Formats: sequence, C-alpha cells, structure tokens
Amino acid sequence: MSIKQHQHAHWSSRLAFILAATGSAVGLGNIWKFPYMVGESGGAAFVLIYLLCIGLIGLPILVAEWLIGRRGQNNPANAMADLAKGAGRPRAWMLVGISGILGAFLILSFYSVIGGWSLYYTLNSVTGAFSGQDADGIGALFNAMLASPGLLLAGHSVFMLLVIGIVARGVTKGLEGAVRTLMPALGVLMVVLVGYGMTTGHFGQALTYLFNPDWSALSGETVLAALGHAFFTLSLGMGIMMAYGSYLGREVDLLKTARTVVIMDTVIALGAGLAIFPIVFANDLDLASGPGLIFVTLPLAFGKMGGGIIVGLMFFLLLTFAALTSAISLLEPVVEFVEERTPLSRVASTLVAGVAAWGLGIAALLSFNLWSEPVLFGLNVFDLLDKLTSKFMLPLTGLGVILFTAWQLDRHEVARELGLSGTAAGIWHLVTRFIAPIGVAVVFVSSL
Ligand code: PHE
Ligand code: NA
Repeated sequence: MSIKQHQHAHWSSRLAFILAATGSAVGLGNIWKFPYMVGESGGAAFVLIYLLCIGLIGLPILVAEWLIGRRGQNNPANAMADLAKGAGRPRAWMLVGISGILGAFLILSFYSVIGGWSLYYTLNSVTGAFSGQDADGIGALFNAMLASPGLLLAGHSVFMLLVIGIVARGVTKGLEGAVRTLMPALGVLMVVLVGYGMTTGHFGQALTYLFNPDWSALSGETVLAALGHAFFTLSLGMGIMMAYGSYLGREVDLLKTARTVVIMDTVIALGAGLAIFPIVFANDLDLASGPGLIFVTLPLAFGKMGGGIIVGLMFFLLLTFAALTSAISLLEPVVEFVEERTPLSRVASTLVAGVAAWGLGIAALLSFNLWSEPVLFGLNVFDLLDKLTSKFMLPLTGLGVILFTAWQLDRHEVARELGLSGTAAGIWHLVTRFIAPIGVAVVFVSSL
C-alpha cells in the first residue's frame, strides 16, 4: 500500500531504456573492480566461471527483475508485495525488495568513495602528475591519496553531491542523452588503451593470463566471488533493474534488451582487462594489487605514451562519468522507496537518502587511513560493505527474485510476456526454475 499515489514516468523509447540500463551496468565494476578481482583470483579460471555466471544466472535474473518491475509499476518493495498479493502468494516476498534497497544504499556509500578517486585522478591527469613517472612514483601518488582523509573526503563529497543533484531532478531526464554519447566514447578509448597494451610486448602474456585457465587455482571462494561480481556488474539483486523496469512500456522485448546490455557490459570489462594486464606484466607490477590496480597501472601508460595527457584525461573523465551513471542508479531505488512511502517530496527524499549514504561513505574512506583496523569478521568497514553486499546480499536477493518469478508467477503468462513458446519456453523454465537458483544455492552453501 503506498501512502501517496503518483504518476509513474516512462522512458521515451526502447533505446532510452537500453541506454539507462547500460549506464547503470557499466561502471566501476567493469573497469576498476573486474581487473583487480581477476588479478586476485589467478586469472582465466575466474574469468570463465564469471562468464558462465553472467550467461546462466545474471541474464535470467536481469530479465526477471525487469519483468517484476514492469508489472508492479512501483518501487521494488511495493512491486514485490503487490505482485505476490495478485498471485495469491505471501506478502513476505516484499522482503526481497527491501533487502535489495538496503543493498543499493550500502553499495552507494563505498562506490562514491571510488568515484572520488576517479575525480582526483582526472585532476591529476590535467596537472600532468603522471608524466615521466616510473612505477614507484605512480604507486607513491596512489598511496599518498589513500593516506589523506581530507583528500578522500573531498572526492567522495563532490562525487556524492553530483549524484544527489542529478537524482533530485529525476532520472528519466538528462541521463539518456549523456549515456548515448559517452558510452561510444568509452568504447573508443578502450580500443586505444588495448592498442597501447599491444605495444608493450606483453599482450600475449595478458591474453594467456585472461583466457587460458589453470583450474588448480580455483576454489569455492573464487567461484563465490565470480558469482557475486556477476550480480554487481549487472546491477542485480538490488532492486535497481526492478526500479528501471517500473518505468518501462509494454512493447519492449525484455530478452533481446537484456542480451544487448549484457554484451556491452561484458565487452567493457574484458576490454579493461586487456588494457591493464599488458601494463602489469611489462612493468612487473603486483597482480594482486587489489582496489588500487587500475590507479597504479594505467597512469604509467599515460605517462609514457604520446598524447598521454589527453588520453589519460579522457579516460578518467569517462570513468568518472560511468561511475556517476551507476551511482545515480544506486540512489534511485532508495529515493523511489522513501518518496513513495513517506510524505517527503522527491527533492527531500533524495537529500535524506544521499546524505545518509554519504555519512556511511566517510566510515568507508577512513578504512584506508585513520580507521584501518578490522571492525567485524577481520574486515575493515570498506571491505565489510563490499563483501557483505557482493557475496551475501546480492546473491540472496537475486535468488529470491528468480525463485519468485519462476515458481510464484503463472509460468504461461511469463512465457507469453517474454514472447517464448515451445523449446525456448522450456529452456527458460529449466534455467529459471532449476539451473540458476540451484547454481546460486550451491555456490553459496559450499562457500560457508
Ligand atoms: N553495475 C555497476 C558497475 O558495474 C555497479 C552497480 C552495482 C550499479 C549495483 C548499480 C547497482 O559498476
Ligand atoms: Na558493470
């Protein structure tokens, strides 16, 4: 039951929706997180498991979230509650929506901290801070940033302010045009950087590392990390795609649209890997550098290549932009929930949600300097927020979404809505009823 009735806006076209969904999916997860996870998890075996998770689990859940959102025409918690009620199922299903909203809130807090790093590196590119630096110099620059709470706070605050400003105006405006021009630009820049990787003489080694698996390196922990990242990178298990689906018209082909978004997301992530690992090998950098990986590798290339200042500036600008479009999508479901459940206006709801996430982000950024001691399970606040969301909340919420769609909604209606019949409908049911949920459950239980 929503306290307020308000007219739900709609995307102007299928293209607009694809752009917004891609804007949410493509972000720090692809360019910052994916490469360092590969580096920490030993390469190709992780990559292949990740791709499997994307295809067999991520894609069906993406479709399921859109379907629920479009049918519910409401914030994720209310949409789940209404649909459950309509199908004569327990209202408790709305917990899935609520846990998704909570996940989005938690992720936003630390995501914005990394958005701040990206802003700071944009500035560094302009001032020529990378020119003539060796690996030690670039590493020192990164460590100095981490050691400075003031610098991190400034970046985090500016980034969050931008997010709040954009969301307060409503996502359907403005976002489309921006994503339409910036996504192709990001693609072109990726090609330039992969091209640079080919000149380092270590491109072959990077290819082997990324695609030739050493299965002995694989552990249950790695598989769970790959699964969690499949959710993170597609913005799943957080109510985000549900929220976006709630602005979606009837005519859109969900399966085809999902395929487009998934392919774009995967191409950008693999492109980032192909750009970064040749530099890692050429400069003998530590594969397991963790969250600092792109910040200690790419600037080395920018400092050496001709026109590096321009390329570096463009890269960090686009990274900041990709992070912004994702962060906007993280704040959106939280705001939608507050707005539809309280008497607060859109602007007030945005402020409340944004400032709360900003406050939690401060605890996350202090993890890199003043407050690096573990607070729980041997993890500091930053790692705790990251692991708790990616490894637990997202997979569990996603499991709820897929179980609900596959087992609680009328399967014939769902097949019709997706335009599936015969064998295709059979495969859809096999994947959503058994393969995806069992996959999530097995990975999850075996890692405990
Ligand atoms: N999918 C985004 C990325 O890959 C991150 C994100 C996660 C955005 C969850 C929204 C929700 O960077
Ligand atoms: Na992504």
